This record gives sequence, structure tokens and C-alpha cells, in this order.
Amino acid sequence: MMTRLSGKVGLVTGGGSGIGRAAAWALAREGAKVVVADVAAPGGEETVRQIKAANGDALFIQTDVTQASEVKALLKKAVQVFGSLNVAFNNAGIEGDRAFSVACTEENWDRVVNVNLKGVWLCMKYEIPYMREHGGGAIVNMASIAGLSGGLLGFPAYTASKHGVVGLTKAAAVEYAKSNIRVNAICPGFTKTPMLEKDPERLLELENWVEQVVPAKCLVTPESVAESVVWLCSEQSAFVTGQALAVDGGFLAQ
Ligand code: NAI
Repeated sequence: MMTRLSGKVGLVTGGGSGIGRAAAWALAREGAKVVVADVAAPGGEETVRQIKAANGDALFIQTDVTQASEVKALLKKAVQVFGSLNVAFNNAGIEGDRAFSVACTEENWDRVVNVNLKGVWLCMKYEIPYMREHGGGAIVNMASIAGLSGGLLGFPAYTASKHGVVGLTKAAAVEYAKSNIRVNAICPGFTKTPMLEKDPERLLELENWVEQVVPAKCLVTPESVAESVVWLCSEQSAFVTGQALAVDGGFLAQ
């Protein structure tokens, strides 16, 4: 068993599916007690069941990250049950509808920005005070290659929200470095999760595109993103803060 996070308590939002579930597993494998938060109970409960079945320790707390009262209650309960909070992966996110900027509806804009950007900010708003008072911590915010490039055509609100996450990450990293809190963003390329798998036609289209355009020639796996999250949460990255780490098989390096 690996123990890079043994004795730590970790929080993963959107932990009931895809990258969040893979990260929750990876944090637990490294010895952390994991608080899994998700707006959808069945997925979150299943992640916890799987971690416990592998002798890990985890707890599900149903939470909508767009609601300040729910995020505040999440942090309170996490600390009550597990006694601490050392690392957090603010990962919950949605893609929203596909439409260019002019056709993007106000409802879609608000929904996407609320979950992807306001949700990350609210999580940090309640994570950081606890970490400041208890010696520090490490936060990883979920962005995307769409947080570093405007090339994801048809998803302007998503692209704006993820660029916002990168900016917010840098601001918080500078603000709280003196409190021993590191804040980084992770920017995966197209990753094979239910977010993409829900539309098999688009998934096939993306797989073909990736083979032609991405140097690594394949979709990113949730597990590989999770390993980068573990590294950013661990002492191995002790001086890394304010960074946006692309996990994209070389796509943005071209
Ligand atoms: P997913 O759809 O498999 O998982 C997202 C999880 O977030 C779900 O369990 C969902 O219930 C939860 N969630 C949604 N709204 C929520 C809310 N308001 N409060 C709490 N939980 C909420 O998607 P996936 O692919 O695992 O995405 C996770 C993150 O990774 C997202 O932020 C996404 O934007 C980002 N990402 C995904 C990529 C991909 O190609 N799949 C690429 C780059 C970034």
C-alpha cells in the first residue's frame, strides 16, 4: 500500500463519477480518509462503497457546490467526522449545452458558470479558513485544456468558466502561500468519462479527432488525471503553487 497521504483527510467534489471517482480512489489508496461530495447521491454512495470494499475510509455527503449553505455544511460535517481537512480536489463540473456564443442561452451560461466557477470559489471560501487555522493544506481546482485555449468550439460558457478557474487558482495561490496553502489547477484534455460517454456519436468523433491531432493519440484516462491530482496534493509537489497543469498527451504543447 502506498502512503503519500497517510494520516490526511481529503475532499473530492463531483466524486460520484468519472475523474472525481478515480481521484477519490487514488487519494484513499494513498492512505487518506476521503470525503466524497456530489449533488447526485447514487454515484457518490457507490464511490464510498468501493473505497470501503478496498479497506479504505470514506464518507459521502450530498452537496450542490453552487449553494453556499450546502458547501459550508459539507466542510463542517467533514471536519466533524474525520477531524481535519488537509487536501481538497474541487472537481465538480458540467459541460452545458453546445452552441456558439451568440446562440448560448442565458440559462446555460448561468448554470455552467455557477457550477464550474462559482462552485470552485465557494469550496475554497470554506476550505481555506479551516486550512489556515490548522497549519495549511493543498487544493487542486478542476479546469481543463479549455481553461488554457479557446479551441473547444461550441462551449463558450464552459471555456470562460475554466479560464476563470485558472485565474482564481492563481489569485488564491498568491493570497494564501504565506499560510502554507498551495493552490493549483489541473487541465485535462478529453478524458473518457460519463461526461463524454453519454453521447456515443460525439465520443467516436472525438476518438478519431484525438488520434489525428493529439500527440499521444488517445483520450486521457480518469486514472492518469487522478495520479496528477495525488501528486499535487502530496509533499512531492511542496513548492508547486499557482500552476495550471495540462494533462493532455501533449496537445497544447504543439
Ligand atoms: P462526470 O459527469 O463523469 O462527473 C461530474 C460529477 O460532478 C458528477 O458526479 C456530477 O453529479 C457532479 N456534479 C455536477 N454538478 C454538481 C454540483 N452542482 N454539485 C456537486 N456535484 C456536481 O464528468 P467528468 O468528466 O468526470 O468531469 C469532472 C470534471 O472534470 C469537470 O469539472 C469537467 O469539466 C472536468 N473536465 C473533464 C474533461 C473530460 O473530457 N471528461 C476534460 C477536462 C476537464
